[in-house]
This record gives sequence, structure tokens and C-alpha cells, in this order.
Amino acid sequence: MSVVLERLDREIPVPPGERTTNADESHPMRKATRAIASSPQGWTPELRSQVRDLFDQLAPGWNTRAGEQRLDAVHDALERGPLPKGGTWLELGSGTGLMTGALAGHADVVLAVDLSEQMLRLAPDDVAPRLLADGAALPVPTGSVDVLVAINAFLFPAEAARALAADGALLWVNTSGPHTPIHLPAEDVLAAMGSGWHAVASEAGWGTWAVLRRG
Ligand SMILES: C[S@@+](CC[C@H](N)C(=O)[O-])C[C@H]1O[C@@H](n2cnc3c(N)ncnc32)[C@H](O)[C@@H]1O
Repeated sequence: MSVVLERLDREIPVPPGERTTNADESHPMRKATRAIASSPQGWTPELRSQVRDLFDQLAPGWNTRAGEQRLDAVHDALERGPLPKGGTWLELGSGTGLMTGALAGHADVVLAVDLSEQMLRLAPDDVAPRLLADGAALPVPTGSVDVLVAINAFLFPAEAARALAADGALLWVNTSGPHTPIHLPAEDVLAAMGSGWHAVASEAGWGTWAVLRRG
């Protein structure tokens, strides 16, 4: 029987000190994350407006969340995850671009996609083209994305599957692991993508990551 979810041992230890986030299943963003991942109907026009307005408001203070430890899971996934080299990477929910620079060295081009204009305005304009768009309806051709990256960002399973090339990969990262407001464990990401996908997952620092591929 083939292994659908392979777990790699942790290499980057949990850092000392306090995490900045402590969300659980009752957090509104967690509820939204689950609703969106489980059904296209979960992403209602009302929720879309609420999410866009919330992140527009949060944008001015977002970069205070920067910090090397926040990048532990991203760096670990880029090093150990079974990701295609080069090609077109689409960072969904790229925010102010805190993670975009780390991705740029692994891709031929990174597209930084976000729903919030205020978040995107604060992202650097010399690292990745910035696209104001909705992850539920990406402005890219079918099968044109080699890696779809979602770091603390919602999962739109059908649109991710449409946008990704047949041999493409979905990189899912939660920088505070299960304490991240927008979080799903690897097995739930796999379940949301449906049959025909397999995943490699691990933990790093406070974070968790999974790379999913077809076949
Ligand atoms: C928790 S923030 C994460 C930002 C960045 N990835 C980080 O870790 O610093 C989530 C981001 O996803 C964006 N977002 C929410 N819904 C989206 C959607 N449907 N399409 C694209 N971006 C979306 C928000 O505007 C916000 O910038």
C-alpha cells in the first residue's frame, strides 16, 4: 500500500520564548478556514468582504509580525519538501510580502496574490509581481502554476487543483503550527484536496508545513 502522508522528523527545534499567536478551533479565522476548505459555498460574498476589510485594517501593523522564527517552517519546507525547482510559483495570501523573498530564490517567477489592496501596497514591488485577486478565482490559466504556496492563507481546493500543473505542488505552511488562526493539519489539507494526492509534512520551530503532489 502506498503512503499518502509521510512525516519527516523535526530538524528545527521549538524556540524558547512566547509565540505571538494562540488561536484554537473557536477562532473566527479557523472556522472560516475550515468552511472554505470543505466547500466552495464556504466562501460567501459576506465572508469575502469581512476578510478583505479585516486585512485592509491590519495592513499598517502587519510587518511588526516579522521575525526570523516566523520563517522557520518556510525555510525548512523549501529545503526538505519535495518541491519542483524553478518555474512559476504563486503565493496566495502573500500579504505584505514577509515570506515572498524566501520563495523568490526557488522560482523563476513568483506571483504575489492577495485580496487586500492595503496589504499588497506594503509589499515590495521589486521581488514579485503583485496581483490583487481572489484565491477562489485566480487570474492564471489552468495548469500554469508549478507551486502554489499558501502561508497562513486560505485553501481553495478546487481552484488550487485547477491552477496547478499536473506535476505541480501545493506548499501549505502555518508559521505558528496549530496555534495559527488560519491553520489546517496536513491530513485535513489532504482530505480537502481529495483523492489522488499525497503529502510530505513536518514541523519546524513553531510552525508546520506540508507539500502535496498528485499521484
Ligand atoms: C494571515 S495573512 C498572511 C499573510 C502572509 N502570508 C504572512 O504570513 O505574513 C492572510 C492573507 O491572505 C489574504 N487573503 C485572504 N483571503 C484571500 C483570498 N480569497 N484571496 C487572496 N488573498 C486572500 C489576506 O488579505 C491576508 O493578506
